Amino acid sequence: MRSETAPAIRLEDYRPPAYRIDKVHLNVLLEPAATKVTATLSFARAASTEEGTPLVLDGDELTLTGLKLNGEDLPQTAYAATPDRLEIQNPPAAPFELTIETEINPDTNTKLMGLFRSSRTFCTQCEAEGFRRITYFLDRPDVLAVYTTRIEASKAECPVLLGNGNLVETGTVDGTDRHYALWHDPHPKPAYLFALVAGDLAQVPDRFTTASGKEVALNIYVEHGKETLCAWAMDSLKRSMRWDEEVFGREYDLDVFNIVAVSDFNMGAMENKGLNIFNDKYVLADPETATDQDYANIEAVIAHEYFHNWTGNRITCRDWFQLCLKEGLTVFRDQEFSADMRSRPVKRIADVSLLKSHQFPEDAGPLAHPVRPRLYHEINNFYTATVYEKGAEVVRMLKTLLGGEEFRAGLDLYFQRHDGEATTIEAFLACFEDAAGIDLSQFALWYDQAGTPVVTVKTHHDPERQTFCVSLSQEIPPVPGQKSSKPAVIPLRFGLLGPNGEDMEITAPAEGARIAGDVIVLEKAQQEVTFRNIPSAPVLSLLRDFSAPVRLDHKLTLEELQFQAAQDSDPFNRWQAVQTLAMQDLVRLAGLIRKGQPGVPSEDVIRVFGSVLSDMSLDAQLKAQALTLPSEADIAQEIGKNVDPDAVHAARRLLRQAVSRQHGDAFLAVVTGLSGDGAYSPNAAAAGKRALSNRALYYYAATGSPDAAELVWERFSAADNMTDRLAALTLLVHDHMPRETEALDRYKARHETNSLAMDKWFMVQATAPGEETLAKVRALMSQPLYDAGNPNRVRALLQSFATGNPTQFARADGAGFELIAESILEIDKRNPQVASRLLTSFRSWRALDPQRSALAESALLRVSSCEDLSRDSRDIVDRTLQ
Ligand code: ARG
Ligand code: ZN
Repeated sequence: MRSETAPAIRLEDYRPPAYRIDKVHLNVLLEPAATKVTATLSFARAASTEEGTPLVLDGDELTLTGLKLNGEDLPQTAYAATPDRLEIQNPPAAPFELTIETEINPDTNTKLMGLFRSSRTFCTQCEAEGFRRITYFLDRPDVLAVYTTRIEASKAECPVLLGNGNLVETGTVDGTDRHYALWHDPHPKPAYLFALVAGDLAQVPDRFTTASGKEVALNIYVEHGKETLCAWAMDSLKRSMRWDEEVFGREYDLDVFNIVAVSDFNMGAMENKGLNIFNDKYVLADPETATDQDYANIEAVIAHEYFHNWTGNRITCRDWFQLCLKEGLTVFRDQEFSADMRSRPVKRIADVSLLKSHQFPEDAGPLAHPVRPRLYHEINNFYTATVYEKGAEVVRMLKTLLGGEEFRAGLDLYFQRHDGEATTIEAFLACFEDAAGIDLSQFALWYDQAGTPVVTVKTHHDPERQTFCVSLSQEIPPVPGQKSSKPAVIPLRFGLLGPNGEDMEITAPAEGARIAGDVIVLEKAQQEVTFRNIPSAPVLSLLRDFSAPVRLDHKLTLEELQFQAAQDSDPFNRWQAVQTLAMQDLVRLAGLIRKGQPGVPSEDVIRVFGSVLSDMSLDAQLKAQALTLPSEADIAQEIGKNVDPDAVHAARRLLRQAVSRQHGDAFLAVVTGLSGDGAYSPNAAAAGKRALSNRALYYYAATGSPDAAELVWERFSAADNMTDRLAALTLLVHDHMPRETEALDRYKARHETNSLAMDKWFMVQATAPGEETLAKVRALMSQPLYDAGNPNRVRALLQSFATGNPTQFARADGAGFELIAESILEIDKRNPQVASRLLTSFRSWRALDPQRSALAESALLRVSSCEDLSRDSRDIVDRTLQ
């Protein structure tokens, strides 16, 4: 029969550990197929634990080869061992030491959890539950121990040996070709932060002096020959370290900070204490192979992992339900860092677009869960947009509600009070309550309720009484396991736009809600706010800077939206107004096309695009963002049900062409005006110019003229950086321009030896609209450069097809779903985390039209009927179908 769903783990069942582990000594004898691990663990019984309570350790695919208690072999009757569990039946009452020997095989570890090899380099990934694949352990985040690790390997194969903390000793093993390194990490940590690396790697060294004058050695380790690609990552690291001192008062706490880049990695990166391990995609960059987006991502991920040193490592999570305690807070911190390094509004718009396109659909579908879930079957499935991105929004709201100073005071208290602990959301919030003297019990609902609140807004101006009334109501639509909800605390940043476009001054205190500065605090299901001394009707600019993760149902007239698009002093809401105008028209057009009627794009929307383009006051990157049409997935989300992706695609195409026809010359002038000024720099200003010129090229290309095709080809051939080359290549391929194939071949010839650059080549083809793409993707899967065992390749080809090509994934013949279902079953045998992530691309299947959703369902049932599906995929498929 089909695999059983793993038992549910519930937050309410949390119990502190019965035993502590104070010290861990590991001796790891590395061999590709048979690594021997000896773990010497110092245990102490918790005060509340009865004597003789069995000690149960976690394991996962382990082979026990030896077991000693206080130095003596344990008789077989005293314990029970299976690959996933080691039970000591009657442990001593007093503190004791267990010496556990296990044997593991890094070479056959295709799950990339625990100890594995990536292009010959030994490395580890232990979050969330990978340490139990190395040795038997109390593998839970509230067991904090001091680790000493001896790593031994062949000197020729692995000249570099890295562990957590500081290096204590190195030496050779007499009479062998082997050497060792001894690392000691003085900071108690949970097992998920353990790491080791051994291999033949190049070292890129640097240094950093902390605010208090401590010298830190910084190193990035990469494959030989890639040293020159680390400069940006190193620069980002140093800026992150400085920024965390300046903005949050947080200093680094070890003598060394090492980063290792590997090419086979399930996630983006991992914050292991003193030894961050990265997917090489978030380290390696030069203008030839990385886009501006890649540079920005590297900066953000380097910062994110570094910031975890305080928010995650020094203060960690009590249990995995509290994952957002470290992730939401750390995402908030990295977003703020990037905002300070670049343009704040640009960063905010980028973050909100991501939230809306990834987290909102998650929160509206079968996989919806609270920022702090209450139940899981497989924790690896909860590294989600909700925990990360919505988790960051919740921290941001806290800052909005408290103000900068009190927010900082609360965080300072958190660092002071909980340093060295594994703690909870309650403890985190209590710090802000104590620092600011407020009650956050209602605010805490943000952690417990799933679903995106809808805030409905109605306004009324009374010229006689000179009042302006704002009626607000909030509601969360039902989501799985949550039929009703309680009103949340929603900070709504606002302004009243007067006729001249400036914010009106509010002279009399408003009634009906708490208003702090420019924030209305909505706390009840319904509230009516009245402003007095308002002689003429203002345009209400609400949710400025996207001050809360909600959907706004605020029906502004076309004139009001146009006014906001042109005048709002809040750049976010200007952008939002343009997007809303475009979205409304796209939804309308898709509806008409669906009914077989001719769609004619709105002249007003086309005009707004022209005004944005010619607005000299807008910075280039902002302009590029405003000129970006909502994605097909965003439009589908807005339509909400009975979606026909072909109609959505056609509507978007129509609007793009209409804008292009109207403003073609202006776009051309931008393309040529911004091209090729000087040497490449990845900074925000230069990136902004490239973004705008490529956005303009996108519209100019849609004129369909031979000149346009020629210009795109020209730009492709002449590009001296990846951003421009990829933008042109995407147009050539997605618009099926005459030299499409030639461009792909040239690109391949140029980048064949660089897998990260080739990932873009896979991605461009996988996301091309058009019938032929499916066969293309199948063919690319047997391309020698494709590797189904490498997560980056799978994401570049299959994940981008499933999530970035709505018309082809959701083909009316079901072949797109079939391809992905079939691939999931293949990948699941090897790497469950990659498979289950790919499976989430089905999450909006019920919103499709009946024919397509039936086909999606049968693809899901095919996956579900597999007898030995992994726990990861079983969990996702069950929830998706429920
Ligand atoms: N803690 C890592 C980070 O956010 C990610 C770990 C993801 N782990 C997982 N099992 N998916 O920086
Ligand atoms: Zn993180």
